[in-house]
Formats: sequence, C-alpha cells, structure tokens
Amino acid sequence: MAMRVRVADSGDVPVGKAVVVHAGGRRLALCRPIEDEWYAIDDMCTHDGGPLGEGELSGYEIECPRHGALFDVRTGEALTLPATRPVNAYKVYVEGNEVFVELPE
Ligand code: FES
Repeated sequence: MAMRVRVADSGDVPVGKAVVVHAGGRRLALCRPIEDEWYAIDDMCTHDGGPLGEGELSGYEIECPRHGALFDVRTGEALTLPATRPVNAYKVYVEGNEVFVELPE
C-alpha cells in the first residue's frame, strides 16, 4: 500500500526550481522543471549525503551541491560521478493547487 501526503501548494515551488519538503519522516527534493511537471526524489545524495533539494535544477537534472553529481529527477538515476547509485523517486500528484507525493507505507 502507498500513502499520499500533501507536501506543498503549487505556488510554493517556482518553475525551474526544487525545494525541500518533509513527508512521512522523509526529506524530499520536490522538483518542478517546467510548469506542469513535478517530481520528487530523496533529499540525500547517495555519494555522501549531500542535500539534493538545495542543488541547481537544470532541465530534468539536479546537481548535488556537495560534489556535483547529477541525478535525473524523473527516475532518481545517478548520471555522473561521484555518485553511482540512484536515489529513490516518488510519484507526484497535483490536485488544484495542492501537491501530493505518494510514499510507500
Ligand atoms: S555528496 Fe553528492 S556528489 Fe558527493
């Protein structure tokens, strides 16, 4: 079973940016690369725990602010060294102005 958790209002996240949100005891990077596309990944780089939600979002790639690894926010895939393992990616739903993330229970 999965649970949906409301994490933000759509106006909280500028287009082209990521913000850090908390849901179900997790810290997530909520990303909005373009107006109507939303993604959520763990806010913890698999290389050394860098805060991905504070990184630069460029298209679908977010750069870890600690050592510069790139991750695909759509899948969580690690695209460049020094990260080699993916982060978890979560489904995001928008209903009206409310943004929800689906988390495993
Ligand atoms: S902690 Fe993210 S690249 Fe090192």
